[in-house]
Amino acid sequence: MPNNKTGMKKNLTNYGDTGFSIFLRKAFIKGLGYSDDMLGKKIIGITNTFSDYNPCHGNVPDLIKSAKAGILANGAIPLEFPTITIHESFANPTSMYLRNLMSMDTEEMLRAQPMDACILIGGCDKTVPAQVMGGISADVPIIQLVTGPMLTGSFRGERVGACTDCRRFWASYRAEDLNENDIDEVNNQLVPTVGTCGVMGTASTMAITTEALGLMIPNSACAPAVSADRKRIAEKTGEISVKIANENLNPSKFLNEKSFMNALTVLSAIGGSTNGVVHLTAMAGRLGINIDLRQFDKLTHNLPMIVDLKPSGVGYMEDLYKAGGSIRIFNELKDFLHLDAKLVNGNSLGEEIQKASKWKQYVITTKDNPVFKGGSIAVLNGTLAPGCAIIKQSAASPDLLVHEGKAVVFDNLEDLANRVDSEELEVSKDDVLVLKSIGPKGGPGMPEAGLIPIPKKLAKQGVKDMVRISDGRMSGTASGTIVLHVTPESYEKGPLAIVQNGDLIKLDVPNRKIDLLISEVEMNNRISVLSDNQIKRRGYNKLYMEEVTQADEGVDFKFLK
Ligand code: FES
Repeated sequence: MPNNKTGMKKNLTNYGDTGFSIFLRKAFIKGLGYSDDMLGKKIIGITNTFSDYNPCHGNVPDLIKSAKAGILANGAIPLEFPTITIHESFANPTSMYLRNLMSMDTEEMLRAQPMDACILIGGCDKTVPAQVMGGISADVPIIQLVTGPMLTGSFRGERVGACTDCRRFWASYRAEDLNENDIDEVNNQLVPTVGTCGVMGTASTMAITTEALGLMIPNSACAPAVSADRKRIAEKTGEISVKIANENLNPSKFLNEKSFMNALTVLSAIGGSTNGVVHLTAMAGRLGINIDLRQFDKLTHNLPMIVDLKPSGVGYMEDLYKAGGSIRIFNELKDFLHLDAKLVNGNSLGEEIQKASKWKQYVITTKDNPVFKGGSIAVLNGTLAPGCAIIKQSAASPDLLVHEGKAVVFDNLEDLANRVDSEELEVSKDDVLVLKSIGPKGGPGMPEAGLIPIPKKLAKQGVKDMVRISDGRMSGTASGTIVLHVTPESYEKGPLAIVQNGDLIKLDVPNRKIDLLISEVEMNNRISVLSDNQIKRRGYNKLYMEEVTQADEGVDFKFLK
């Protein structure tokens, strides 16, 4: 229902007497020491997603302090409130399983409480998508503030950062190139400060693409979590939040298809995380915008990748910030972007890009001298993935992008854990590793287990990469020839469910194909004998399993779209 009231009079608790509702509300909040003068102002909500379980959000209290200063200086009253927070390593079974729950929490708290605008403070992978999804659905004026990336550490003189290096060093430990003491020493250095992963992982991807979407103040995605700039960005976000409250600038008034095309273009050009495809699809779905992944492939097919950061390249987020940050990236991409797309501060993307300064640096390249040519993320299709599948080809081994090999199948994560390092496992470097049951329902929550470890006996021989296929996701910080998000997933009896050891699989990324080389008759016979899952469920798990969509629809709940 439209709500034309402002401040404390907004979203009143219903007792059947409006006067009493406001009287009671003010009586209670005065217990915190507010005066009538203060309570007559516009209210800016601030989501407090600090938690001891979420080190990526360790600077949230500082950011809230700075955002409050910006709000108060511009004549409104800041009120912080808690919502769910999610950290990648502290969410069982997976953070993705909880993303929609956080989005519902955010949406309903924005709807339920009195606020004229809201600053959404997030950072770790799922928090920003959840907040944007919830904010779009609530259609309250929102502005995103990210916690910012962590700094890098040092291991015996080598610069390291979460979490591309986490995976690289762990692979060396599995191959017995590092011993117990070495790996313990590495463990102390990977996360030297609070903040989000310092490479072009999902958190950095979502920060930059959310800025490209128009929901953050310009050039605010990359400043380190522990920098003074990050606090100034929070203060400025406070200032703009008052502006959007005064203008009643709901996201539906300026977000449109062009905004999402910009975000998808930027996603590909920065060599962003494959998770970004899922999240942007879900965010767009909340506005009724359908993102067709084949259209995404067409849009980005010839797009240069111009950011040289791990896992596709060599640098870290602090390097990107010093090179000019997100606005410098957008500037280099201006020929590919909708420059008339409006941003939350009221300006157009084109107006902001004009303000970007340029200097000599080596992190952001030009479209004529790209880090990778031809779309960092490719969308595949074929008899193994009739819906679609995706691969981050910029982070894959070029010699494996066209490959045919025998399937070595793992039925689920438990089977993988039990057998992948066994000396008895029959596997060679040319085989294709297939992992089932890690899709949206099978996981549940699409575990980031698509980076199937190289079997130990091959790792010890020096094998670093193989073609690996699953219906799950992989961390944005990971690399390798990894085919992900196979749709329909195996739990839903997609063709992945019927792959057997020894079946031939053909991957052809240049032609965007992924095929299981068995006859149609054989495929139908195998699918016809698959049995249904008959597990009794309750609570959120029941809701999740009944409502979650497949990867190509953003893994959102049907009833939230
Ligand atoms: Fe939080 Fe990587 S674990 S951003």
